[in-house]
Amino acid sequence: MSISRTPLLPAALLALVGLLGGCGDDARPSAPVHSATLAPADKALAKIYDTSCKTCHANPASGAPQAGDLQAWRPRVAQGADSLLDHSINGYKGMPPMGMCMQCSEDEFLALISFMSGQPIQ
Ligand code: HEC
Repeated sequence: MSISRTPLLPAALLALVGLLGGCGDDARPSAPVHSATLAPADKALAKIYDTSCKTCHANPASGAPQAGDLQAWRPRVAQGADSLLDHSINGYKGMPPMGMCMQCSEDEFLALISFMSGQPIQ
């Protein structure tokens, strides 16, 4: 009698397809966002994020669009990089000027926004 071993590959592929399949479906509500556990891959950026943006952008009570919540970010990102930078540097409603990162460069702001919104900023 032989024990049949299920190959892992199909399961891995299915999981991947499931992840990719989540993109671009506007009608569905956002999946639960675990913003508190997200961090930029880049170490230096992760450090900046941790001590500034994360305070609010991983805290739903702040009213800030949450890191990883693509739906919340979509209309904001649609404004374009210039507006996003202007709002990051000069503040915008509950968003404090410089987002509590006084030493951040424009490139760092763009990278942080790209990370939080899960999409490239242009
Ligand atoms: C003290 C809380 C707080 C911190 C810290 C903070 N934000 Fe925000 N941010 C907010 C809130 C609240 C909003 C939503 C403002 C609104 O539209 O009412 C926001 C919105 C934004 C927006 C969208 C603005 C728009 O045009 O819609 C960007 C971009 C942004 N934050 C970037 C950042 C970045 C980058 C950092 C870190 C360097 C950061 N924020 C840190 C509270 C914060």
